[in-house]
Amino acid sequence: MGQHPPGHRHPIFARVYGALAPLTEVGGGARARRELLLGLRGSVVELGCGSGLNFRHYPGAVSRVTALEPEPMLRRLAHRAARRARVRVEVLAGVAEHLPFPDGSQDAVVSALVLCSVDDLAGSLKEVRRVLRPGGEFRFLEHVRGPGVGGALEDLLDPLWSRIAGGCHLNRESDLEVARVGLRVEELRELGTTVLGIPLPGPRMLLGAARLPL
Ligand SMILES: C[S@@+](CC[C@H](N)C(=O)[O-])C[C@H]1O[C@@H](n2cnc3c(N)ncnc32)[C@H](O)[C@@H]1O
Repeated sequence: MGQHPPGHRHPIFARVYGALAPLTEVGGGARARRELLLGLRGSVVELGCGSGLNFRHYPGAVSRVTALEPEPMLRRLAHRAARRARVRVEVLAGVAEHLPFPDGSQDAVVSALVLCSVDDLAGSLKEVRRVLRPGGEFRFLEHVRGPGVGGALEDLLDPLWSRIAGGCHLNRESDLEVARVGLRVEELRELGTTVLGIPLPGPRMLLGAARLPL
């Protein structure tokens, strides 16, 4: 795996996100992240870990987190956060579309605000399905296209937004794609129409758990 997956350098976005995202921890972000990770155990892969805001919220029953992050500046911050985590966290350069793990090797995969940004949503979720053991869980905290006028506004803003926000798309329907690739969605809870406390034009924020059937 190369040190800098091509096409994933977003130095301005990384600087802004690295500085501002920790502020969402007090606006409901920490609670949402804790809930995202609650009850996980064993070996976990985290997709697009950014600056590593999830790391301190992993429960002690998790034996090892392997966190992938393609953006070099965010990855440096993640390495720092990994050293402060209470569970073992290894940070690697990598993308969700090519997970460097054998088939059926992971107890869980975690994604927080990443499915909006991957280049290939279906391909990434097929990789999640491939690396999960039967009965393994996919946990996600993701914003998806909102209904009505909010959704239409997202469609309108998306081309500009994705340029300034490191490739994030406002109007994906990632939850539907999770089910489409054959993961069984067991929980789906709407957290509201802000992204971790930041009011955006109308995305729905979802906390979900899906399982690879036995
Ligand atoms: C909005 S940030 C979220 C970061 C972190 N998960 C969090 O919760 O704070 C989106 C992240 O997805 C990463 N990303 C973008 N494309 C990706 C891909 N194809 N595979 C994995 N991660 C990707 C970005 O580099 C960035 O770190």
